[in-house]
Amino acid sequence: MINMNLIVTGASRGIGKAILLKFAAEGYNLAFCSRNINNLNALKEELFAVNKDIKLYFESCDMSNKMEVEAFAKNALAAFGHFDIVINNAGIFLPGEINNAESGDLEKMMDTNLFSAYHFTRALLPGLQQRRKGHIFNICSVASLMAYPNGSLYSITKFALLGFSKSLREEMKDKNIRVTAVLPGATYTDSWQGIDLPETRFMKASDIAETIFNAYQLSDRTDIEEIILRPQLGDI
Ligand SMILES: NC(=O)c1ccc[n+]([C@@H]2O[C@H](COP(=O)([O-])OP(=O)(O)OC[C@H]3O[C@@H](n4cnc5c(N)ncnc54)[C@H](OP(=O)(O)O)[C@@H]3O)[C@@H](O)[C@H]2O)c1
Repeated sequence: MINMNLIVTGASRGIGKAILLKFAAEGYNLAFCSRNINNLNALKEELFAVNKDIKLYFESCDMSNKMEVEAFAKNALAAFGHFDIVINNAGIFLPGEINNAESGDLEKMMDTNLFSAYHFTRALLPGLQQRRKGHIFNICSVASLMAYPNGSLYSITKFALLGFSKSLREEMKDKNIRVTAVLPGATYTDSWQGIDLPETRFMKASDIAETIFNAYQLSDRTDIEEIILRPQLGDI
C-alpha cells in the first residue's frame, strides 16, 4: 500500500467522483466532501469495491461557506496528517448574463467556484509548505478563456479561478509546490442534465481523471501549468 493522500472537493458525482475512482484504483488514500451525505456514504462502498486497502475520510461540507470549508480542511488534516495532492473541484453552473441574471447568482457562484478554492487552499498551504511537497489542481474550464452565450457569470468565476491559479503558482514556485489549472470543455456529468445531445458528443469524466493522474506522475522538476481539454468535435 502506498502512503499517498489526496483531497478533493465536490466529489460525490461527475469529475470529482471520477478522480476518486482513478486514485482509489492506484492505491491513494482519499479525503473528499460534498453537501449530500447520503451520496457520500454510497460512494464509500463504491470506492472500497475498487480498493479495500485504502483509507477514506469524508464529510458533508458546503464549499460556499467559509467556516465549513475551514472545518473540513482541519478535520481532514487531523484524519490523514498531510496531503500530497489537493484538488479544488467543487463548482456550479448557473446560466445567466450580466444584463439579465438573477440577483445573487454571481455571488453564489463566486462563493462556490472561487472563494471555496481560496479558503480551502489557504487552510492546507501551511502543511504543504512545511513538507516542501505537493501538487494543487484547480478545475477551471474553457470558460476561463472565453465567454459563452448565457454563461457570462460562470465565465467571470472561472476566469477568476484561473487568475487564482496563476498567482498561486508564482507564489509556490520556490516552495516546491506545483500548481496546475485544468480547463475542461464539455464533460458528460449531471451538470448537462436535460441537454438534447448524445453522450458521445461529450468528453468522459474519467478522461479528466486520467489526465490529472498522468500530470501528477512527472518528476517535481516539471509543472504542467495549464491543461486544456475539449471534446473531439469541439465546444458545445
Ligand atoms: N461538466 C463539465 O462540462 C465541466 C466543464 C468544465 C469545468 N467543469 C467544472 O468541473 C467541476 C465539477 O463539475 P461536474 O460537471 O463534475 O459537476 P456535477 O456533476 O454537477 O457534480 C458537482 C459535485 O460538486 C458537489 N457540489 C456542488 N456544490 C457544492 C458545494 N457548495 N459544496 C460542496 N460540494 C458541492 C456536488 O455534490 P452536492 O450537490 O451533494 O453538494 C457534486 O458532487 C466544476 O468546478 C465545474 O465547473 C465542468
